[in-house]
Amino acid sequence: MSTDRVSVPAPADWHVHLRQGEMSELIAPHVKQGGMSLAYVMPNLSPPVSNAEQAASYIKSLEALAPETKFLGTMYLGPELTPDEIRKAASLGIRGVKSYPRGVTTNSDSGIEDYDVYYPVFEAMEETGMVLNLHGEVPSDASKGICVLNAEARFLSHLEKIHARFPRLRIVLEHATTRAAVECVRRLGDTVGCTITPHHLALIVDDWAGRPINFCKPVAKTPDDRDALQEVIREGHPRFFLGSDSAPHPLASKYPSPASVGSTHDFVASCGCAAGIYTSAILLPLCATILESFGALDKLEAYVSANGRAFYGEPAPAGSEITLRRASSKIPDAFVHPKHEDKSDADATKLQVVPFWAGRELTWEIA
Ligand code: NCD
Ligand code: ZN
Repeated sequence: MSTDRVSVPAPADWHVHLRQGEMSELIAPHVKQGGMSLAYVMPNLSPPVSNAEQAASYIKSLEALAPETKFLGTMYLGPELTPDEIRKAASLGIRGVKSYPRGVTTNSDSGIEDYDVYYPVFEAMEETGMVLNLHGEVPSDASKGICVLNAEARFLSHLEKIHARFPRLRIVLEHATTRAAVECVRRLGDTVGCTITPHHLALIVDDWAGRPINFCKPVAKTPDDRDALQEVIREGHPRFFLGSDSAPHPLASKYPSPASVGSTHDFVASCGCAAGIYTSAILLPLCATILESFGALDKLEAYVSANGRAFYGEPAPAGSEITLRRASSKIPDAFVHPKHEDKSDADATKLQVVPFWAGRELTWEIA
């Protein structure tokens, strides 16, 4: 007999990009619409959230846009983060520090090159219980044989080294995409967790090569890598959990046109498509649909609620269950900011975000 209803206590998204300005106005309320009670918010704004006060005021601005959602803040690992700043942030309720290796993804120009200089910061984080969130890729460098396909595997020695030096520091390897990463996290101690996105449970290389809508960092890898991600979720391993890495970009940045970039020459010479996949507004039904597709619906609660909440020490509030019912529902073609509804789709300034799997059917919806 197949199940027609599934309930999960207070789903939480442990890695989400909620942006600023009009984009934020559009998508911050989508966290709740997508079935999440809690959002752990990434700091790669422009400029980045690089100290305690900025993180606290960013969280306040999100709370004003979506008062029913619990937002937890992070800061961007960089020179402003001293041990004192960590202690100040901890006292303001900021929960983590995100590290981006330089140049590997959206707004990572101020990312880090070497971890050793941050050891005093990691020590203060260990003391205050703050979490280190790692974007686990090294920058591409053809002279060293590094490209987007092996950038994650080549990063894992950094994770192992930091964990060995700071065994009590909670570390999350974010958005793992490879069998190598899954095996590495399995091997390490209880203080090391790992987020897995729903889109990486579905995509492989062929799905993004030539298709900007499925392009994100780290890129989806081989069928065997995807199998490893599915296996660890199907197993319900307690240190693997949902971080959607939902990362909206305006359609004009995903599919730039010569007109939006300036000249045809500039367009061809310099313009790439933005990295990031948008899932916030459809997240819980998407997770249920994808987990069921590989026989893991019975691990939905572990994936979207129990495991991440246990790792971060944020138990689900009483009476906070969300119920899904089996029903076919079509994913919208796009989400458009109300101020931009009158503009034509060709207008490059129109703020519209096309979600993952736009136009496809999900098999679950929020009851
Ligand atoms: C993210 C973004 O757009 O902010 N993009 C992405 O492809 N995942 C940045 C990130 O988390 O790497
Ligand atoms: Zn991200």
